[in-house]
Amino acid sequence: MSDIFSRIALPATIAHRGLSAHAPENTLAAVKAAHAAGHAWVELDVQLLGDGTPIIWHDAGVRRCSNSRGKLKKLNWEVASRLDVGRWFDTTFSGERMATLEEMLALLDELGMGLNLELKVNRGRDASALVESVLPAAMQSLPRERLLVSSFDMTALNAARRLVPDPQALALGLLYEKLPRDWEDRASRLGAFSLHLDWRRLKLAQAQAVAASDYRLLCYTVNDTQAYQRLCQWGVDAVISDDPGRLTR
Ligand code: G3P
Ligand code: MG
Repeated sequence: MSDIFSRIALPATIAHRGLSAHAPENTLAAVKAAHAAGHAWVELDVQLLGDGTPIIWHDAGVRRCSNSRGKLKKLNWEVASRLDVGRWFDTTFSGERMATLEEMLALLDELGMGLNLELKVNRGRDASALVESVLPAAMQSLPRERLLVSSFDMTALNAARRLVPDPQALALGLLYEKLPRDWEDRASRLGAFSLHLDWRRLKLAQAQAVAASDYRLLCYTVNDTQAYQRLCQWGVDAVISDDPGRLTR
């Protein structure tokens, strides 16, 4: 087979928000740490600042992971680029700056890493604007075999598929907290590559059904060794973990 399903060599574990157990999440430092620890792929969240700059960030605001507060939609890059996004995690990361998507893609390209890019659409944000800004840049920087774009947001996923209609050209992943009954229809309509499910709400029969389907099965966020072993037995293709090294040691 030479289709995208065989070309994307997903590793068994993917570092969640970079190596977020050991470095501040969603930063260049977290991706460098993942690479240094031998992880081939990272999961990262992407959003737009108020001025339209795509940045790597999870929350709707900056309070939890920076030395400031405020909503992303009210920040511009001039202000955001001055925040310290490392010190909250550990003083050894003081001075770490928020990463733009562009900086992050350049780093991933340089390191030869794979990216599961989560289109993070927080409440009230524009899913289509995010896709239109992020997707061309991501696809230009990374080969299709090292890029998997996922989202909880159907508007974002549909916009991505409209922009890139060929499922062979772009792998898309459906994120769910709980597997919906009509998952196979949804995956087929989207031309999906994968389903990404919360492992805590996944049942054996569901895992087996997805594992036996045409779609890859990923689970998030797996930090428990016994759960990891069980999920492997259930046929899960890859798990997204804050500390993948701990699972396989
Ligand atoms: O992509 C998997 C996982 O990151 C989804 O949840 O909230 O950690 O972005 P969250
Ligand atoms: Mg995420």
